[in-house]
Amino acid sequence: MSKVVRSVVTGVGGYLPEGVVTNDDLAKIVDTSDEWIRERTGIRQRRKASDDQAVSDLAVEAAKRALAAAGRTAEDVDLIIVATTTPDLTFPATATIVQRKLGAPVGIAFDVQAVCSGFVYALSTADGFVARGRAKCALVIGAECMTRLMDWTDRGTCVLFGDGAGAVVLEPQEGEGTTDDRGLLGFALRADGTKQDLLYVDGGVSTTRTTGYLRMQGNQVFRHAVVNISEAVTAAAADAGVEVSSVDWFIPHQANQRILEGVAKRLGIDENKVISTVAEHANTSAASIPLALDQGVQDGRIKPGQLLLLEAMGGGLTWGACVLRF
Ligand code: COA
Repeated sequence: MSKVVRSVVTGVGGYLPEGVVTNDDLAKIVDTSDEWIRERTGIRQRRKASDDQAVSDLAVEAAKRALAAAGRTAEDVDLIIVATTTPDLTFPATATIVQRKLGAPVGIAFDVQAVCSGFVYALSTADGFVARGRAKCALVIGAECMTRLMDWTDRGTCVLFGDGAGAVVLEPQEGEGTTDDRGLLGFALRADGTKQDLLYVDGGVSTTRTTGYLRMQGNQVFRHAVVNISEAVTAAAADAGVEVSSVDWFIPHQANQRILEGVAKRLGIDENKVISTVAEHANTSAASIPLALDQGVQDGRIKPGQLLLLEAMGGGLTWGACVLRF
C-alpha cells in the first residue's frame, strides 16, 4: 500500500445550553406525557438555548473545547465548516460568524445544509480539503437551535428536538494506506428529494419569506430511517474496506432510541457498542453526532485507535455514514 494523507480527528468538544426542558414541562403545554415520550422515543429531556444565545454562540463554545482538546488555538484554524439548519442569519454563513467570534484568521469558512445528516456531510466535505493538503487545521461543527423551529402546538414534533453543538478538529496525518491508519477511511452520502414532504420546514426566504415551522410525518420517517441508514452504513464500511462487525463504536444521529435499536438489530450490532445520548439531549439535528462522540470520549469509552462508525438521516431526505479510526 502506498502512503496517503488522512484527515484525523485530533480534538472533540461539545456544548449544551444550560436550560433543561423535561417531558413533564412539555406536558404542561401540549397533550402529551412523560410516559408516552419515553416509550416512543427514549427521550427524557432536552436542552434549550436562552433567548440571547444564537447558534454561533453554541458552535463557538464547542469549537473552543475541541481546539483545546487538540492542543490548537483559533490562530491555527484555516477551515471552518458549520453544519446547521438553524443559522444565525440567512447570510452570512454561520461559519464566518464563528470565525469572527473565535478570532480565527482569514481562511475558508462556509455552512453545510443537510439537516440531521449535516455533520456526516460536513465531515466528508472537510476531508476533501484536509486530505488534499488544502487545510492544515479544520473545525467541523454541528450546531443547532432546533427549538426555534418548533410549532409548540404540534405534539408530534415539539417533544422530539433540542439545542446543542459539537465540534471536531481535523488535521492531516500521513498514513500507510491501510485500514489501520488513523483518520477518515470511508463514507457514503445519499439524498432523495422526492421524499421532501416527510420532513421539512414550511417557510423560507424565497417562498414565504418567513422562517417557518418543522413539519414531519413521523411514522413515515421512521419507516425509511432503519432501511436507509442500514444501507449507507454497509456502503460506508465497504468504502473504507472494513467489516461492520469490526467497528468498535457506533455513533448514530440521535433521533429516537427505537431507530438506534432498529438499525443495530438489522446490522447485527451489539447494543453495548452503540453510543446513545437521546435520553438527555433529544434530537439536536446536525449537533447530535459530535455531541455523542464527545460524550463517549469524555467518559472514556472511545479511545484513540478505535474504529468508529457515524450515521445519520434527516430532512431532504438525506442520509449517510462515515467510518473513521479515532
Ligand atoms: N404525545 C402523545 N401522543 C402523541 C404524541 C405525543 N407527543 N405525538 C403523537 N401522538 C399521537 C398521535 O397523535 C397519534 O394519535 P392518534 O392515533 O389518536 O391519531 C398516535 O400518537 C400515533 O401517532 P404516530 O405518529 O403513528 O406514532 P409513532 O408510534 O409513529 O410515534 C414518533 C411518533 C414521532 C415518536 C415516531 O414516528 C418517530 O420517532 N419517528 C421518527 C421521527 C424522527 O426521528 N425524525 C427525525 C429524523 S432526523
